Amino acid sequence: MKTYPSAKDRISGYACDLSSPDLEANIHHLFAQSGDKLDHVVFTAGDELAITKLEDATLERIQKAGLVRFYAPLLVAKHAVKHLNPGPASSITLTTGSVSEKPNKHWTVVASYATGLHGMIRNLALDLAPTRVNLISKSWCGDDTVVGWDAGGSDGRVHEDHQGEVYDGGDWETGGCGGVISVDFIYCWSEKTD
Ligand SMILES: NC(=O)c1ccc[n+]([C@@H]2O[C@H](COP(=O)([O-])OP(=O)(O)OC[C@H]3O[C@@H](n4cnc5c(N)ncnc54)[C@H](OP(=O)(O)O)[C@@H]3O)[C@@H](O)[C@H]2O)c1
Repeated sequence: MKTYPSAKDRISGYACDLSSPDLEANIHHLFAQSGDKLDHVVFTAGDELAITKLEDATLERIQKAGLVRFYAPLLVAKHAVKHLNPGPASSITLTTGSVSEKPNKHWTVVASYATGLHGMIRNLALDLAPTRVNLISKSWCGDDTVVGWDAGGSDGRVHEDHQGEVYDGGDWETGGCGGVISVDFIYCWSEKTD
């Protein structure tokens, strides 16, 4: 609303903690606040990536890594459908990343959930029909220049090795990573039916 003050009368926002043990109650509360006349639900939340060596991946860490990135979108879809206008014009769009198809070393925990989202949306599309269910799988996008944590992901190096390094998106074959505007267009396109 700070960025688009002219739209303040038609935009509203509600906070929802997706990493809490009260995840489902929080999501239920979120939709209760947003009402029953929704056309589209888009899920883009993501917490810190649980990049870790497999020997350090305890059950507790694995479960924690899935809260925001796997269990939350599943429960959002479950509750969203009750608040969407019925029919194929309505949609739910979830988000995953390219690691769901192209592995990175030490990303097994992250990739397991990321790839699981492909199966999730195919089955949701059946369970929630006629509401459409989409999945956007992004590669690197945002700022071309990134410091540190993800610098060497695609060739198997992990963030600990790259603290303080600057990764220049010019290394991409296209000369840069996806911009925010072009990514936003993909979400808008997924909502369209014509
Ligand atoms: N950027 C990329 O290169 C890239 C590549 C592949 C996939 N993706 C995926 O695309 C999605 C969006 O990425 P992004 O780069 O836009 O991420 P981002 O800028 O880090 O934004 C993440 C969002 O998730 C929210 N969030 C984090 N923890 C949360 C929690 N516990 N409860 C509720 N919301 C929480 C944050 O809210 P606050 O601002 O309030 O903290 C923030 O709005 C993520 O799922 C990411 O994995 C991104």
